Amino acid sequence: MFKVNCLNNIANVGLDLFSDNYQLVDEFNDADAVLVRSASIHDLELPQSLAAIARAGAGVNNIPLDKCAENGIVVFNTPGANANGVKEIIMAALILASRDIIGGVNWVTSVKDDPEVAKLVEKKKSKFAGTEIKGKKLGVIGLGAIGVLVANAANKLEMEVYGYDPFISVDAAWKLSKYIKHTQSLDEIFRECDYITVHVPSIDSTKGMFNQEAFDIMKEGIKILNFSRDSLVNEEDMIEALKTGKVGRYITDFPTPKMVDVEGVIAIPHLGASTNESEDNCAIMAVNQLRDYLENGNIKNS
Ligand code: MLT
Repeated sequence: MFKVNCLNNIANVGLDLFSDNYQLVDEFNDADAVLVRSASIHDLELPQSLAAIARAGAGVNNIPLDKCAENGIVVFNTPGANANGVKEIIMAALILASRDIIGGVNWVTSVKDDPEVAKLVEKKKSKFAGTEIKGKKLGVIGLGAIGVLVANAANKLEMEVYGYDPFISVDAAWKLSKYIKHTQSLDEIFRECDYITVHVPSIDSTKGMFNQEAFDIMKEGIKILNFSRDSLVNEEDMIEALKTGKVGRYITDFPTPKMVDVEGVIAIPHLGASTNESEDNCAIMAVNQLRDYLENGNIKNS
């Protein structure tokens, strides 16, 4: 009998795949495997019994990878399983970065009891006018499963898409998406684009990549979408760039106390992959990975 501890809510459609040889336990201490979403397990003592951790999602920054490697604990994630959910929220974020829908909705709420609300709306609405994304340049940093879907969808909205990924050659990028203008450097993305969306993991080489030096070469009023991790952004530099108007909008799925109230920021509570479909896909992939490893010793990260 294998004991599996779920540290977050994992979709039932995945949990139902565990056969009778599995017991879902509340205790972390003697589990053979752990299923986790984005809750951090950095501070937990890893039990001797633990053979595997499956992260129902892409980012593994909530898992102590070094400790797992030292203890022979196999770590899985579910790349691509939630990519469509993230792609769709990025399309919404592109519009939110361009049209002041949130400002407008908040204002309407504030005058909702006024009997003249319809008249007020007509007077006020020009204050919330925005711009269109058609014809604008979108830089996609990171051309994994999410980045490529985003590039293709943005192309359908008639954006001009620039892509950058240090691990992908021009030829490979062309095969992934013929709509991407593959760039050779981050600087080209920073210099050319009106919008930037970033889809890379939080690792040493990506930490703080949005910093003063980067903002210096960007266009005035650049709109930045971060549905990857907050560590990619140098917070002080971003706040300063928002104050000066260098960054026109910063949409982040990772609110931090300092950032939430800064003008120009739209802070979203980590909803990128929070759709029924993405949660189901991640749960199914994660449970299948665990079963294949625990029952057959296979390590397959797909
Ligand atoms: C991910 O890394 O896949 C995302 O952060 C989604 C999530 O777990 O909510």
